[in-house]
Amino acid sequence: MKIGILLSRIRIEEKLIFRAAEQLGVEIVRVDDRDLVFDLQRRDFPEVDIVLDRGLVHSRAEYTLRLLESWGIPTVNSYKATITCDNKFLTNMALIEHGVPTLRTMLAYTPASALQAIEEMGYPVVLKPNTGSWGRLLAKINDREAAEAVLEHKEILGSYHHSIFYIQEYVRKPGRDIRAFVVGDRVIAASYRKSDHWITNTARGGISERCPITPEIEELALRSAGAVDADIAGVDLIETPDGYKVIEINVGAEFHGLIETTDVDIPAEIVGYLVRKAGTVGAQPAAAG
Ligand SMILES: Nc1ncnc2c1ncn2[C@@H]1O[C@H](COP(=O)(O)OP(=O)(O)O)[C@@H](O)[C@H]1O
Ligand SMILES: [Mg+2]
Repeated sequence: MKIGILLSRIRIEEKLIFRAAEQLGVEIVRVDDRDLVFDLQRRDFPEVDIVLDRGLVHSRAEYTLRLLESWGIPTVNSYKATITCDNKFLTNMALIEHGVPTLRTMLAYTPASALQAIEEMGYPVVLKPNTGSWGRLLAKINDREAAEAVLEHKEILGSYHHSIFYIQEYVRKPGRDIRAFVVGDRVIAASYRKSDHWITNTARGGISERCPITPEIEELALRSAGAVDADIAGVDLIETPDGYKVIEINVGAEFHGLIETTDVDIPAEIVGYLVRKAGTVGAQPAAAG
């Protein structure tokens, strides 16, 4: 059994996965995305049974997953799931279509129409880059003056992906959100991420604490992962007066904060899942020619 792992920088999570694989007697083939060159019509990739994407550069990972899909090499997550989860709008659409509760979100394409949408939603609102992570470039906008300032900054200083305005209702949550970690058909762990700041990501100083996996959290997280076809995913939930809502789904999720809150061996669960999945799907032989 050989597992290929797509990598950019090696974080603590990747080191833990390597170690778990070694303990389980599973060979790991490291594939650094900086070394990859593809000749699109020729299948050329190390011989592996399955590939786990842990790349940090999303565009690279997406293209590589697409090639591997074409060559019949199973991947976790799939190309489609990865494309969807790397994009908050696509994720939200998949969740809505599967009846998963999400926050009211509006989409606009120009600063003027975005301002109109913000005014319609009512303050405060949250403006998010449609593609992004670690809580970066999230803006809580409390009034019209702030809205005008942020929109002008985005228009003049922002790169291309800031020309899509993703506008969301702001939730007064109880100083925390919830990260539920899905592996296959199970939620293996969940944590609260607590912070005095409204952005509770651990990358922004949020503290992880154990969160009991209630049937409701379990059901929502599994439905969310199912809606985007993700095998392994970190589902972010938020507590609102109307119950839990799903904010986003992370593929290739970090779990260093979560690990401290659970007895479950997350890296071993990941490797075990990959071994089982490789056993059932199996890599296809190379296409002739
Ligand atoms: N609409 C919202 N209302 C209140 N808090 C939010 C809202 N959206 C996000 N947050 C907070 O910001 C954090 C990061 O938001 P998220 O959409 O997951 O972006 P990222 O992809 O950067 O992690 C969440 O974990 C949550 O704490
Ligand atoms: Mg998040």
